Amino acid sequence: MIPPELPSPADTGPAIRELGAEERKAAVGVINTAAGWYREFLPPEELHSPEMDESGWDAEAERMTWWGAFSDHGLVGLTGSEPIGDVVLLRHLYVLPEHQRSGVAGALIRHVEETAPGSTGMIVAGTYRANYKARGVLEKNGYRPAARSESVLRAYYDIPEDRLLGSIAYVKRVGPPGR
Ligand SMILES: CC(C)(COP(=O)(O)OP(=O)(O)OC[C@H]1O[C@@H](n2cnc3c(N)ncnc32)[C@H](O)[C@@H]1OP(=O)(O)O)[C@@H](O)C(=O)NCCC(=O)NCCS
Repeated sequence: MIPPELPSPADTGPAIRELGAEERKAAVGVINTAAGWYREFLPPEELHSPEMDESGWDAEAERMTWWGAFSDHGLVGLTGSEPIGDVVLLRHLYVLPEHQRSGVAGALIRHVEETAPGSTGMIVAGTYRANYKARGVLEKNGYRPAARSESVLRAYYDIPEDRLLGSIAYVKRVGPPGR
């Protein structure tokens, strides 16, 4: 019998590690599968199909670190972290539909927070206003809408104007109290 104080396998969460260039194909597959959700709330003219291709993944890898979440089924989710000054951007958070709502995104978010440079004062994440799944997971993990959301998006995100206007920035203060 397993002693009650030991975590059950369901409590352990996914294993998270940095993704390498040789994993880009699997990573892009996860992104484009999970991004199918955008069809539920974006007008057709705002859909980008595919959401990301392999060259786009490589370009992002030059400016940020890709993190993958692995279960027994292999790569099930991913995200990216990009330090800019004393801010870290939490970018491209995607979990395969059949693995959603089991804490994978939450584990990725915590990993980005835990691996942020010691000088980090704030984590910033942007998402579509209509993306209630992403907004829910961010709020569940302590993120709040930025007071000046549009300025935050303009300062940190290089995204098309249509996306920017339909998006919202979330922020979470991290680091020692009083910073
Ligand atoms: C947003 C996303 C990454 C969340 O991943 P996840 O692994 O399911 O998230 P977690 O299991 O860690 O957290 C679950 C929380 O997220 C929110 N959420 C996730 N799926 C949801 C759904 N179908 N309906 C409502 N809220 C949902 C809720 O707040 C939920 O908490 P609850 O189960 O207590 O209600 C995932 O839905 C996804 O990949 N979506 C498609 C791509 C996307 O929108 N990415 C965000 C880009 S910024």
